[in-house]
Amino acid sequence: MASKVWIDGGVRDASQARVPVFDRGFLYGDSVYEVLRTFGGRPFALDEHLDRLERSAERIGLVLPERSQIEKATRASIVATREPECYLRIMVTRGAGPIGLDPALADAPRLVVMALPLVLPEERLYHDGVAVALVSARRNVAGAPGAVDPQVKSGNYLNSVVGVAEARRHRAYEALLCDGVGRLAEGSSSNLFLVRGGRLATPPLSVGLLEGITRRHVIALARRLGLAVDELALWPVDLEHAEEAFLTSSVRGVMPIVRLSTLQREEKTIGLGRPGEITKRVGEAYLKAAEEMSRAAG
Ligand SMILES: Cc1ncc(COP(=O)(O)O)c(C=O)c1O
Repeated sequence: MASKVWIDGGVRDASQARVPVFDRGFLYGDSVYEVLRTFGGRPFALDEHLDRLERSAERIGLVLPERSQIEKATRASIVATREPECYLRIMVTRGAGPIGLDPALADAPRLVVMALPLVLPEERLYHDGVAVALVSARRNVAGAPGAVDPQVKSGNYLNSVVGVAEARRHRAYEALLCDGVGRLAEGSSSNLFLVRGGRLATPPLSVGLLEGITRRHVIALARRLGLAVDELALWPVDLEHAEEAFLTSSVRGVMPIVRLSTLQREEKTIGLGRPGEITKRVGEAYLKAAEEMSRAAG
């Protein structure tokens, strides 16, 4: 398996890729990043991921390298892996410099692109569905003074890290984080959808969540399939009573949820306790559409 990393202007074996300890990504999580995968060897929705990277960078005043350079690094890393399908992680740190929080201390942005063999979740998880746990870690509240906007995909994921640790203690696959007032926001690295009355429902961006690229594609696709999609505030009780539920993310695609561990640590079955028909339909349609779109993008 060939894992390759673009760093400091060229592709290297992953084992040879090094970041200096004075890099601000390492010191402070002062970085932005994207994760995507290839379909048929081509990066899926690269433009949308680079748009989001630019929005994240702009919100924290980080100046990115030229977009053409990021694209070049991404494609060069994919080619170098010689893998049929890759996991791609595109990162830009603010650079290195003397210790101190002032961004002006940074020298120049550092671009790192990891291209790793794609390892998808085990098939049985799609077949049987997964458990999620509501956790006490909270998502930064959108618009709260002083809090970094959850729309920024930055190198600081501590809320999510702590949330996942809590979820694992309850043997759950993914942590669900709420906002400051207890509304459902999203998973630690995924977005959440419910099926209620045959319609899809997902928390709105105003709750404070990362606008997933998969979330956006799933909303558009569901509407094309004739399914209504509501973006509205949802509470844990809505999940408990949902007919079906699923997670979305670039690597996982559409992952069915069948069990919930509540904040009181009660175990609840979601729907019939197995992946629902609408979830399966959306999941299959998403995979097909992603393959077709990647092929068309060339
Ligand atoms: C916090 C968070 N929410 C949602 C997602 C899903 O986003 P996407 O569908 O773009 O992968 C991610 C992806 O890593 C994430 O980190």
